[in-house]
Amino acid sequence: MTILPFDDRDGFIWYDGELISWRDAKLHILSHGLHYGSSVFEGERAYNGRIFKMREHHERLIRSGELLGFTNPYSVSEIDQACKDVMEANNIVDGYFRPVAWRGSEMMAVSAQQSKIHMAIAAWDWPSYFSPEARLEGIRLDFAKWRRPDPATAPVNSKAAGLYMIATLSKHAAEENGYNDALMLDYRGQIAEATGANVFLIQGGKIHTPTPDCFLDGITRRTVIALAKGKGYEVIERAIMPEELAQTQEVFLTGTAVEVTPVREIGEYKFIPGKITKDLLLAYDELVRKSI
Ligand SMILES: Cc1ncc(COP(=O)(O)O)c(C=O)c1O
Repeated sequence: MTILPFDDRDGFIWYDGELISWRDAKLHILSHGLHYGSSVFEGERAYNGRIFKMREHHERLIRSGELLGFTNPYSVSEIDQACKDVMEANNIVDGYFRPVAWRGSEMMAVSAQQSKIHMAIAAWDWPSYFSPEARLEGIRLDFAKWRRPDPATAPVNSKAAGLYMIATLSKHAAEENGYNDALMLDYRGQIAEATGANVFLIQGGKIHTPTPDCFLDGITRRTVIALAKGKGYEVIERAIMPEELAQTQEVFLTGTAVEVTPVREIGEYKFIPGKITKDLLLAYDELVRKSI
């Protein structure tokens, strides 16, 4: 597959308050964010010309920065407006939005007290590639060897770039083993999440999902929990050990990018995407597309 490089495209990127030409959106190599991981980001999707849960994403972006000790120079409303400007400048109807905020190159040391906070927003077309029927076939997950860290080790509730180091290692290892993605356990050995999505298990008609105490409490996760409760399903948030996969009938992932994605295999465990997964997959599809 040929990939059009992300630094060589037409269009406009919002950078520190202005829309600039896509190819000019560069940063200096001595940026603190690059060397020390002081960067936070969001992943958002627009459906029919409207970003789903835009405000929640921008509130989380600002909170993610605060958890790394920095104040975003832009307010939620300013970031909302900047995303709308990016959407219009690039003629996006169904797309993916990537706001990112990072410490700049004003200082070059672990300490970055004088460094400025910069922000950019890029977006590109992202239609839905697969029909619900194709998605219901389900994906295959490997167990990751890397674990989600203890909240005493890292700011685990921040969507901080540094935390994705273990996600990329895990995803690459899974892909090299022929899987689509990896399931990460946490520092206690409990089921945590996939590399860019939260996980749900169906056991005896009830929906179980790990308590988000050391990983991101996804906006899609919360949306799907509300949808499930609205449909009368019982949703239980609790600690889940991997051995319980033997008593699990259905598994699915949730996330802005994956939406509701059924899982048919995790390591040696097999599942058949069933009624509850299908019900929630369709309900989520309908919600995001009709929220115009
Ligand atoms: C590690 C991780 N967990 C969970 C999620 C799901 O979060 P959301 O539903 O807010 O996209 C994401 C995606 O942002 C993620 O990267």
